Amino acid sequence: MKNLDVRQAYLDFFKSKGHEVIPSAPLVPNDPTLLFTNAGMVPFKSIFTGEVPRPNPPIRTSCQTCIRAGGKHNDLDNVGYTARHHTFFEMLGNFSFGEYFKKDAIAYAWEFVTEVLKLPKDRLYVTTHESDDEAYELWQKHIAKDRIYRFGDKDNFWAMGDTGPCGPCSEIFYDQGAQNFTSDEDYMGGDGDRFLEIWNLVFMQFERSADGTMTPLPKPSIDTGMGLERVSAIMQGKFSNYDSDLFMPYINEVAKICGKPYEYATGASYRVISDHIRSVTFLLAQGTNFDKEGRGYVLRRILRRAVRHGYLLGIKEPFMYKLVDKVCELMGGHYTYLNDKKDVIKEQIRLEEERFLATIASGLELFNAELAKTDEIFSGDVAFKLYDTYGFPLDLTADMLRDKGFRVDEGRFETLMIEQKARAKAAWRGSGDKGTKGDFKALLERFGENEFIGYDRAESNSKILALLDENFKEIDELNGAGWVMFDKTPFYAQSGGQKGDSGEIVNFADVLDTQKFHGLNLSQINTKKPIKIGENVSLNVSDERSEIARHHSATHLLHAALRKILGSHIAQAGSSVEATKLRFDFSHPKALSNDELCKIENFVNEAIANGAAAKTEIMNIEDAKNSGAIALFGEKYDENVRVVSFGDVSKELCGGTHVKNVSEIGAFFITKESGVSAGVRRIEAICSKSALKYALNLRDELNLLRDELKNAQPLEAVKKLKGEIKALKDELKNASNNKAINLSEINGVKVAVEILQNGDIKGIIDEIKNANESVCVMLLQPKDEKITIAAGVKNANAKAGEWVKSVAQILGGNGGGRDDFATAGGKDLGKLGEAKDFAVKFIKEKLS
Ligand code: SER
Repeated sequence: MKNLDVRQAYLDFFKSKGHEVIPSAPLVPNDPTLLFTNAGMVPFKSIFTGEVPRPNPPIRTSCQTCIRAGGKHNDLDNVGYTARHHTFFEMLGNFSFGEYFKKDAIAYAWEFVTEVLKLPKDRLYVTTHESDDEAYELWQKHIAKDRIYRFGDKDNFWAMGDTGPCGPCSEIFYDQGAQNFTSDEDYMGGDGDRFLEIWNLVFMQFERSADGTMTPLPKPSIDTGMGLERVSAIMQGKFSNYDSDLFMPYINEVAKICGKPYEYATGASYRVISDHIRSVTFLLAQGTNFDKEGRGYVLRRILRRAVRHGYLLGIKEPFMYKLVDKVCELMGGHYTYLNDKKDVIKEQIRLEEERFLATIASGLELFNAELAKTDEIFSGDVAFKLYDTYGFPLDLTADMLRDKGFRVDEGRFETLMIEQKARAKAAWRGSGDKGTKGDFKALLERFGENEFIGYDRAESNSKILALLDENFKEIDELNGAGWVMFDKTPFYAQSGGQKGDSGEIVNFADVLDTQKFHGLNLSQINTKKPIKIGENVSLNVSDERSEIARHHSATHLLHAALRKILGSHIAQAGSSVEATKLRFDFSHPKALSNDELCKIENFVNEAIANGAAAKTEIMNIEDAKNSGAIALFGEKYDENVRVVSFGDVSKELCGGTHVKNVSEIGAFFITKESGVSAGVRRIEAICSKSALKYALNLRDELNLLRDELKNAQPLEAVKKLKGEIKALKDELKNASNNKAINLSEINGVKVAVEILQNGDIKGIIDEIKNANESVCVMLLQPKDEKITIAAGVKNANAKAGEWVKSVAQILGGNGGGRDDFATAGGKDLGKLGEAKDFAVKFIKEKLS
C-alpha cells in the first residue's frame, strides 16, 4: 500500500464513521506556548479545553503536518540515526470533543487496523496506563489479555506541552518479527525496534496549567495519532520508515548527486537529508524564513545540519535546493501550495546553502583541530566560536561529536551566549503571551459571533451585549478600562495586518482598539461614565478609518506592482496597515535596485491616477483562487470568502476596509526598502495625507536650502561649493607647506627646529633637504592630543634617529629611524617648549 493510499484510507474510514475531514492546519500554530504544531490535536486545543464551543459534528479527522524540532517534543538529534524519528511527519488522527470516548475510540482503531489495513492480529499488541482499568477491560473485547500491557506515565500518559490538554493513553504496537531483530531491548516496552508503536489513542481528560495543576476537562475527549510514515513502512514490509516510498526517492536522488550508492548501515547522512528537505520545504512554503532567532533559526539549524551531512558525502556545493522538485512531485498533489512557491523556495535554500558553505570548511578545520585535543568534553569556547563566527548551530557541533561519544561543554557555551547577549535564544518562548482565557465560550454560546457592519459606514446605534473586565471576565457594569461586545459593530477588529478601529461610544467611553477573539469582535474601551449591559448606544468610528482604508488599498496595489515588476514568486510574508503608514514584507532573494523601486512606485501611482472602482464579492474559496485572487498561506479562510479587486490591477482575498476608488489614495511614496531576514524584504510606504505631508516637508526643506544658497539650483550649488572647499583645502595645505622655516647656520650646516600646527611636516623636511647642501631640521606637530616629531639630516655630523628619540623621551613617547630621516611620537603637550629647546641644544652640541 502506497503512503498516499494509507492517508486516503484513513480519512475515508473515519468519514464513513461520521467524522468531518479537516485539512491540515499550518505548521506554525496560533498558540504562543508551542514552537510548531507537534501533533494532530494542536489546532483543536481550545475546543478540548472548552474555551470555545465544540463544532458540529463534534467529531473530526485529519492528516496533520507536524514538526518536532524544538520544545517539548524535539526529535532533531535522533533523526537519521534511528528507523523512525523525523523532524517533519504527517499524523493521521481522529478526534472526539465530548462525543464518543474510550469504547468507540478503541473499537474504531481495532477495526481500521485489522479490517482496512488488514494487519495480522497475531502481530498486534496494546498498552494501557497502569491506572486505566476501563481501557484494560475494553481492549479485552478485541485482543487476548496477554497481549495487553500496562505501563506508567512515561509510556502511557500524553501531554501536548508543559501546559495544555493531556491524559492517559493506549498505544497499538506491531511486532516486526523476532527473526529480524536481535537487540536485548527487543521486547514489549523495551527500546528496541522490533515492537513498533503505530497508533496512540489519548483519552483527553485534563488540562495542565503552568503550576502543574491538573484540571478535569469539561468533557472527556479523544485524540488519536497515527504516524503515516510508520504505517506506510509496515504496509510496504520495511523495517525502517526511511526504506518506504516516503523517503527512498530523496535518498536515491542524493545518491545520484554525490555519486555514491546508499547502504542502510552507513547511510545516516542520506536519511538526515531526506528528512530535513521535507521540513525545510514545508516551513518555507508556509512562510517561515531563515532567521537569526526563533522559528526561523530552527529552520536554519535543520538546513545547516543537512548541508553538513551533504558535506560528509562529499557534496561541497549547494544541492538541497535541487531536492525541492522531488518534494513537490511527491507531496504537491495533496499540499498544492508547495507547487505555487517552488521556485522561490529553491532560491531561498540555495542562498542559505551558499551562506553556510562559505564558512563550513574553515569551521570544520577549527572543529577538527579542537577535536584532536578533546577527551570527552569538547570546549564550550570553541563550540561558541563555531556558532558565532562560522554559523555552526550548537546541535550541529553536538551531532559531529556523536560518533566519538563526546559532548560539548554546554554550560560554558551558555555562559558565553549570555555574556554576549546572544540573539539565538528561543525567542518564541519569551513571547510573554500567556494566551487569554476569558469568558469567550459563554459569549459564543449565548450570542454567537457578532456582526461587523462597518464596510460602508462609520457609525451605528448598537446594543451592548456584554461587558468584560481587563481579564476578559464578564461583568454587568463597567467603570474604567475593559472590553465591550456590541450586537453589531462598525469597529473593524485588527486582522490581516490592518490595525483595529478606535473611536467613541458617544457620551460614555473612548474606544481605544478593536480585536477578534475566537470570532468575537470586541472593542477595548475606557469609560467616561459607568456603562451597563443592555444599553443602546451610539457609536462613531474615528476619522483615522478612511486613512487606514487608503493605506490598505495602497498595500494591495503595491502587492500587485511587486508581482508585476519582480515576478510571481513574490509571496506576502506579513503586513501592517495604519492610518499614517504601511509596511509590506515579501519573499524575494535580494535587495531591490533603485530602478526597481522607481518602477514599483510608478506602477502604483499610475494605477491611482487611472482610478479603478473597488469591487467586493463573496465567492466560494475554490472559485476565488481559480479566478486568480491572491490568497495567503495559513490564513484560515471560510468556505465563502471576500474578494477585493481594483479593476484589472489587483484581486485579493481580504476582509479589510478599502477605498471606493483607488483615486482616493492620492499619491504613494516608498520611504524605505530593507531586509527582514534571509530571503525576505520589507517595503515601507505612505500615501494620501501622509504622502502630502511628506512631499510638503520636502518642499519646505528644499526652499530653506534654496534661500541659504541664494536661490541657486541646490544640486549645482552644492557641487560648486564642494569644488570650492576642495580648492581652499589644497591652498591651505600649500600655504602651510610653503611657510618659511627660519634656517640658521652652524658650521656650514643649515639648522631649524620648529613647531608647526599645520602642514605636511615630512614633505617640508624633504623640500628643505632638496634645497640645501647640508641640513639638520626637526619639526614638531601637535594634533589630537598627540605630537608627531620628524627630523631630517643631510651631510652633517648628526643622526636623525638618535635626535628624535631623545626629544620623544621628553614628550613621554618613543620612536626612531634612519640616520637621514626619522619620526617619533609623543603625548606630553605641556612639554612642547622644553622639547624644542632641548632639540636645539642637542643639535648645537653635535655640530659644534
Ligand atoms: N496527541 C497524541 C500524539 O501526538 C495522539 O494524537 O501522540
